[in-house]
Amino acid sequence: MEDTLTTRRKVLIGMTATVGAAGASLAAIPFIASWNPSAKAKAVGGPVRIDVSKMQIGQKIQVSWRKQPIFIIRHSKEAIENLSKVESKLDDPSSLKIEEPYRDLNPTRSTSGEYTVIAGVCTHLGCAPKFYPEIQPQPWDDSWIGGFFCPCHGSMFDIVGRVFKGVPAPTNLKVPPHYFDGSILTIGEER
Ligand code: FES
Repeated sequence: MEDTLTTRRKVLIGMTATVGAAGASLAAIPFIASWNPSAKAKAVGGPVRIDVSKMQIGQKIQVSWRKQPIFIIRHSKEAIENLSKVESKLDDPSSLKIEEPYRDLNPTRSTSGEYTVIAGVCTHLGCAPKFYPEIQPQPWDDSWIGGFFCPCHGSMFDIVGRVFKGVPAPTNLKVPPHYFDGSILTIGEER
């Protein structure tokens, strides 16, 4: 027969074990919540789809993905041919300094031979580079053949977002994951 002291000890040990188990399951809730994929997907923003067939040749449009501006540019054949002419002015023409998702696929840097898809965020301090597609002398470059100029500190990029030598921006503009299904461009997802 157990004495009263032994019985009380057993009750106390049982209570401690119950509180311990409750504490462990409460501690697990935030961990599980942080791995909830739908909550995470909502926070970062899902893919963006856009029909680019209505874009004019030479036109640039802007969409938003994950709260970032994304530039889409539809190039003329001439503009694509001119890309090689600007290479001697570029710091990293083959995008070797960055993770380039579609390297060597197209001169556009995208999965399409006609459209460029790049983040409209200067790689220096995050300003929005402006699009100057005209082939004409500009105050920042006498032999400008079209591209982007960042008004904040003067960085220059060509029409597919490759950075010029000797400017504050350290790297080319980034290419987001994307794919084309006919004229439907999906940004934020690989096929
Ligand atoms: S933020 Fe573009 S040059 Fe500084």
